[in-house]
Amino acid sequence: MRAALMILLGLVIGVIGTANVMNALAARNPMPKAVMETMGYHVGELKNAIKARQCDPVKVQHHLARLESTASDITPVFGIDEKAFTDDAAQLQERLHQAVQAAPASCAAVAAAIKPVGETCQSCHQQYR
Ligand code: HEC
Repeated sequence: MRAALMILLGLVIGVIGTANVMNALAARNPMPKAVMETMGYHVGELKNAIKARQCDPVKVQHHLARLESTASDITPVFGIDEKAFTDDAAQLQERLHQAVQAAPASCAAVAAAIKPVGETCQSCHQQYR
């Protein structure tokens, strides 16, 4: 009886310990979500600017540059080693690079510059989110 109780106690402690470790691991790497939230913020600001018809080229360029540099964190931070994933991440960087180079000076130009970017966000989300 006593041995059975000790085994049960051991199991319970093991389960609680495992759950704690899993939680700690999830909390320890907030980066994947942080990278995505950061990009979501900057895309949101660009969309708001278009909606408000106030596309200050300096602000627009700031958001595009932040997007380009944040996108370069996707591959190292997610650590997903599948070709479809890394291809989408690379395509996102390429398209953001082009958007930065285009330096859009009107809302119509901003909309045109971020359209292919949004398509790449969607392409990866469909498969991996
Ligand atoms: C190469 C793949 C990939 C690309 C490209 C990508 N994402 Fe994501 N995104 C993901 C994955 C995977 C998740 C789910 C992350 C999770 O739940 O841990 C995600 C989640 C998100 C989230 C929700 C974050 C959360 O807290 O769960 C937002 C917002 C987001 N992405 C924005 C964007 C924007 C904006 C772009 C384009 C500029 C983009 N993503 C491009 C893979 C990608």
